[in-house]
Amino acid sequence: MSEAFGFRTFGGPEVQEFFDRPDPVPSPAEVLVRVTAAGVNPLDFKLRSGALPGFYGERPFPQVMGAEAAGVVLAVGSEVEGLAVGDAVFGMAYTGAGAYARTTLLLGSHTARKPEGLRDDWAATIPVAATSALDAVDQLDLPEGTTVLINGVGGGVGIATAQVARDRGLNVIGTGGPTKRALAEAVGVTFVDYTEGPVVPRLRDLAPDGVDGLVDLVGGASLRTVAPLVREPKYIVSVTDGTVTELGGEMVRRRAARADLERAAALMVEGRLDPHVVRTYPLARSAEALALLEDGHAVGKIVIDMTE
Ligand SMILES: NC(=O)c1ccc[n+]([C@@H]2O[C@H](COP(=O)([O-])OP(=O)(O)OC[C@H]3O[C@@H](n4cnc5c(N)ncnc54)[C@H](OP(=O)(O)O)[C@@H]3O)[C@@H](O)[C@H]2O)c1
Repeated sequence: MSEAFGFRTFGGPEVQEFFDRPDPVPSPAEVLVRVTAAGVNPLDFKLRSGALPGFYGERPFPQVMGAEAAGVVLAVGSEVEGLAVGDAVFGMAYTGAGAYARTTLLLGSHTARKPEGLRDDWAATIPVAATSALDAVDQLDLPEGTTVLINGVGGGVGIATAQVARDRGLNVIGTGGPTKRALAEAVGVTFVDYTEGPVVPRLRDLAPDGVDGLVDLVGGASLRTVAPLVREPKYIVSVTDGTVTELGGEMVRRRAARADLERAAALMVEGRLDPHVVRTYPLARSAEALALLEDGHAVGKIVIDMTE
C-alpha cells in the first residue's frame, strides 16, 4: 500500500483526501514507477470537479489526481519497448492512475528516459506543459521575425510557449495579470497587463498591422477579445477552448509521445527552455499546491516533490 491524493466523488477542493492504495499493476503497455515529482495542472482540478466526464474512459473511485510524473521504473509491461527496471523516466500518467502518489503507472509509449542533468521537478513538467508549448508553436509554424501573441503568458504553458517561440526567432507579445510581468519580461516577452484596462488598444499600439499568430491559454471572452488582432484567423491556436474553431482557428493538436518528450527534455538540458518551477510542495501539501493553481494566478509551474 502507498499514499495517494485524490477524491471519492466529484466536487470542489473539499472532496480531496489522502488514502492508501496498493501499487497499481501495469498493463502490457504501461510501466510502474516510484514517483519522484508530479506536475500540477489545471486538468487536475477540472477532472476533480467532474467537468470532463469520461476523459480517461470509465474510471472507478477513488481517483488519484495528477497527469504527469517523473520517477524510477519498478516494473515494465510486456509490450513496452526501450525502458527497463531502474530507469529514471518521465511521462504521461495518461491512463488515469494519477501522479500525486508514491507509485503510479505511465504509458510506455508516452514515457522517456530522463537525460543526465535534467532535474526531476523539471522533467515532471514536460508531458503536459512543455509539450503543449511545442505543439502550439509547431502548429503555427510561423517564420522567424514574425510576431506571436500569447494570451495568458505567465502560467505553466504560457511561460514555456514564450521561450519556445523566442527560441524560434519570433517576437512575442503576451497578456497576463500584474504578478506575471517580471517573469514574462525576463523571458523576452513584451507584456500587456490585462488588469490595467482594455488590452486591444495597447496591443494595437505594439502591432499596428495585427499579429501573425496567437496562442491562447485562457479561452472564452478573453480569446474573443484578442482574436481579431490576428491577421489570418487560421493562425489562432487555443490550448484550452474548443470553440476557437468558431473564430476560424484550431485547437492545439497534442503530441506527447516519447520522441516529443525527448525533444522538450533536450531543450531544457541545452538551456533553451526553463519551466520556471516557482514552487514545489511535498505530497502532504498537495491541497495547497492545487489551491495556488486553482486560484488562477499561479506564476510559472507548480510541482509536487515526492522527495521533500
Ligand atoms: N489541451 C491540452 O492538452 C492542454 C494542456 C495543457 C494545458 N491545457 C489548458 O490550457 C490552459 C492553460 O494551462 P496552464 O497550465 O498554463 O494554466 P495556468 O498556469 O493557470 O495559466 C493560465 C494563465 O492565464 C492567466 N489569465 C487568466 N485570465 C486571463 C486573461 N483574461 N488574460 C490574460 N491572462 C489571463 C492566469 O493568471 P493571471 O490572470 O494572474 O495572469 C494564468 O497565468 C488551462 O485551461 C489548461 O487546462 C490544455
